[in-house]
Amino acid sequence: MAQPGGTGPIGPYPPPVGDHPAAQEDYDRLRRRVLWTMPYGLYVVGSRAGERRNGMTLNWATQLSFDPKLVGIAVEREAFTHQLVDESGVFVLNVISREDRAIVRKFTKPVDVDLAARTLNGIPYHDGLTGAPVLDQAVAFLDCEVRQAVETGGHTLFVGEVVDCGFQQDEETPVLRMEDTRMSYGG
Ligand SMILES: Cc1cc2nc3c(=O)[nH]c(=O)nc-3n(C[C@H](O)[C@H](O)[C@H](O)COP(=O)(O)O)c2cc1C
Repeated sequence: MAQPGGTGPIGPYPPPVGDHPAAQEDYDRLRRRVLWTMPYGLYVVGSRAGERRNGMTLNWATQLSFDPKLVGIAVEREAFTHQLVDESGVFVLNVISREDRAIVRKFTKPVDVDLAARTLNGIPYHDGLTGAPVLDQAVAFLDCEVRQAVETGGHTLFVGEVVDCGFQQDEETPVLRMEDTRMSYGG
């Protein structure tokens, strides 16, 4: 797509790497390390379609526009969350307290939902305005309706408009970031 000076597309490998397999491997490793330097927050995405609900650990989230207030999340196409968001067109971005870092491990595969107890893997939730689950212990939440779904490859970027939001803990509560854990994703 890019045509610097009109010379044609570049990539995925820059010219010095060319098509040498060993050079490509070195470059792949370098590119991963550079991508890992990008700072991220760490969230739990709440999703729902009908009576199916899920929570999923996700760091690829960002605000995308001032007006309207758009927030994007990039979700693996194979994830259960993908199926639910695709079907219902809603999601909740739960902002987690740094003290609750242990809970992100509970949301790396489809969760056990207890509808009577209103828990996801034992973690209490309630339904947001869109119906998607808000974790009771989230510091803050952004409840979103999907306005666009962009296929990016292995992921879909769901672009949601914030239709409801709130704090559930003190606004000054330190929130979870990738660097607070030993986990990584991407690269
Ligand atoms: C630290 C961490 C960050 C993650 N970030 C993302 C992400 O940004 N997008 C994504 O699709 N999956 C991400 N995942 C992977 C999902 O949490 C994982 O694939 C999960 O199984 C998908 O959940 P589901 O099938 O229950 O929806 C991350 C996992 C970890 C451990």
